[in-house]
Amino acid sequence: MQHSTGFIVMFAAAICVVCSIFVSGSAVLLKDRQLENKILDRQTKVLDVAGLVEEGQSLSRAQVLELFEKNIEAVVVDLESGDVAEGVDAQSFDQARAAKDPAQSKEAPENDAKVRRIPNQALVYQVKQEGKVSMVILPVEGKGLWSTLYGFVAIDADGNTIRGLTFYQHAETPGLGGEVDNPSWKALWPGRKAFDSSWQPVIEVKKGAAGPAAEDPHHVDGLSGATLTSRGVTHLLRFWLGEHGFGPYMAKFRGQHAG
Ligand SMILES: Cc1cc2nc3c(=O)[nH]c(=O)nc-3n(C[C@H](O)[C@H](O)[C@H](O)COP(=O)(O)O)c2cc1C
Repeated sequence: MQHSTGFIVMFAAAICVVCSIFVSGSAVLLKDRQLENKILDRQTKVLDVAGLVEEGQSLSRAQVLELFEKNIEAVVVDLESGDVAEGVDAQSFDQARAAKDPAQSKEAPENDAKVRRIPNQALVYQVKQEGKVSMVILPVEGKGLWSTLYGFVAIDADGNTIRGLTFYQHAETPGLGGEVDNPSWKALWPGRKAFDSSWQPVIEVKKGAAGPAAEDPHHVDGLSGATLTSRGVTHLLRFWLGEHGFGPYMAKFRGQHAG
């Protein structure tokens, strides 16, 4: 049976309309679910860097929420003063949005991590064990080679010892810069010291191999073939642990929780 050209065009147009309704309908319907999954993924990463879940362990949504609620308190801090911001709801605080809003952020000074804007306030996670803060988890971000790396660094209650580092988003090359996600490399971080004796952030991913944490506390092995990503990790940690990032908060945190 032969169809007219008009029929074929109309048929194709009708298929396009039906498909676009289907695709846009599912995007709208799944939007909340996507947001929920993003939050869950972020919470899982926080539990991961805190050492509260094993690397690669898969947890149900309920298990993540239970572990999170039991062990972690999210607080919003004022970066300039280092004080916890009273009356700001940490659950609904969106740091990425704050960093883009001129009313809630400021331009960053020239820096190696290529951070452009600094939010006035930032979200940190305090890990509580037996009623005491045992570590703090800080969000960090900065340029690698191809992309901005977004992650978390966990610092012990002593305000200096790194308990873990993890990234939840980047687009470095798998097998090269992408090795930031390699569990063997991530295992090199716990026990390293972020700061020197005058509380300057000196942690460095060096080119080549570092010694064990006890002997070479300020260095971590470089990623082979990925010197630029490695440098990016050094720069982003130093920026966010420094005076324009969480430096003032860490100074107060040490006063309250160390020892
Ligand atoms: C396709 C391709 C992808 C690369 N991806 C990365 C990367 O993700 N991170 C990185 O630091 N270097 C990457 N490099 C290598 C850099 O261009 C550069 O050579 C390297 O960082 C130097 O590190 P090395 O001194 O350890 O060899 C890539 C190179 C190529 C050709």
